[in-house]
Parts: sequence; C-alpha cells; structure tokens
Amino acid sequence: MYKQLIGLSVAIAMTSAAFAHGGATGIVKQRMDEMGAMSKSIKAIAPMIKGTAPYDAETVRNNAKILQQHAGEHMVSLFPQGSDQAPTDAKPNVWEEQEAFGAIATKLQHYAVALESSADNPPQKLDKSQLPSFEGPVVSVDALAEKSVSVSFGLVAKSCSTCHTKFRR
Ligand code: HEC
Repeated sequence: MYKQLIGLSVAIAMTSAAFAHGGATGIVKQRMDEMGAMSKSIKAIAPMIKGTAPYDAETVRNNAKILQQHAGEHMVSLFPQGSDQAPTDAKPNVWEEQEAFGAIATKLQHYAVALESSADNPPQKLDKSQLPSFEGPVVSVDALAEKSVSVSFGLVAKSCSTCHTKFRR
C-alpha cells in the first residue's frame, strides 16, 4: 500500500529492507546496516514530498546529511574486492563494473547535497518530464537549489533504484 503512495523509485529503494540478513558479518553487515540507515532517511522524507505528512525543511536537511555520509567514496569502500560472501545481495558486476558502480554512488552523494540545498523550496507535484534524466548529464547543485525539493528528492531516489536494478539481486 505504501508502495502505491510514493512512486516506483522510492519503492524500489526500500525493498528488501525487511529481509532478515541475520547471518551477515563484517563488511557485508556494515554495508547492509548503512543501506538500512539510508532507507530510514528516505522513509522520513518521502511522505512529506508526497504531501501525506507536513513538510519540514529541517528534517529534510538532517536526513540529506545522513545520505551524504553513506554515499560516494565511502559507499564504494564498503564493497572491497572479494566481499561477495553470503548472504550478500550484491551482484558480481559490482566488482566487474566498478567505475559504473562508483559513478552512481557519486551521483547519490551529489544529489543528496542538492537535496539539502533545496530543502527550503516546498514540494511540488512533478510529472515525469519535470524530472531531469538520471542517465543524462549531472545537474548542478546550484541549478537544483533553485528548484522544488521534489526534483532533488526524485534524483536521490532514482540513484538508489538505478543502482539496485543494476547491482543488487
Ligand atoms: C552504488 C550503488 C547503490 C546505491 C547508490 C544504493 N544502494 Fe542500496 N544496495 C546496493 C547493493 C549492492 C546492495 C546489496 C548489499 C549486500 O547485500 O551486500 C544494497 C542493499 C540495500 C538495502 C538492503 C540492506 C539489507 O539489509 O540487506 C537497502 C534497504 C538499500 N540498499 C537502500 C538504499 C537506499 C535507500 C539508497 C538510496 C538512498 C541506496 N540503497 C543506494 C547498492 C546501492
């Protein structure tokens, strides 16, 4: 039900959060935990963007900072060569296409900075044509800071779902 409310990218970003990965240890457990922390931040923001919860810019900024911390090079460092042991859901291509993997982690960090910068611009209903292409050129933080927070949030959610589609089982 929640899925229907918040749109596909966000839904994909959050799936498998409920999976029990009890056996995970070491770096695999650490990255699962950090992904889980990001999922919490997305869930804190999504209802405000959808208009089902009152908008609060401070909450958005705080959660954008959490996303920034877990993204970029730090995220890549949680996937060292050889860390493909069960019960990981990472696909082998994480280590075969490291450049593409790192590029998405970097985009997430960039768009999480934009999310923080645009937090004072109220949410707005967007249709698909108003969301810049994720695959296209990176949209600058300055440009996004002028737009509704919904645009940056859409790009953040797209970062999660794009990576999961390509690199997660
Ligand atoms: C650069 C790629 C990438 C990005 C960006 C990314 N993820 Fe992930 N995510 C993965 C991979 C790979 C796994 C599987 C990790 C494993 O099982 O070892 C994963 C797993 C997860 C999990 C499951 C954790 C668990 O307990 O098993 C959640 C939840 C999650 N990600 C949420 C998010 C959210 C929310 C975002 C965006 C804010 C995000 N991810 C961005 C690659 C990414």
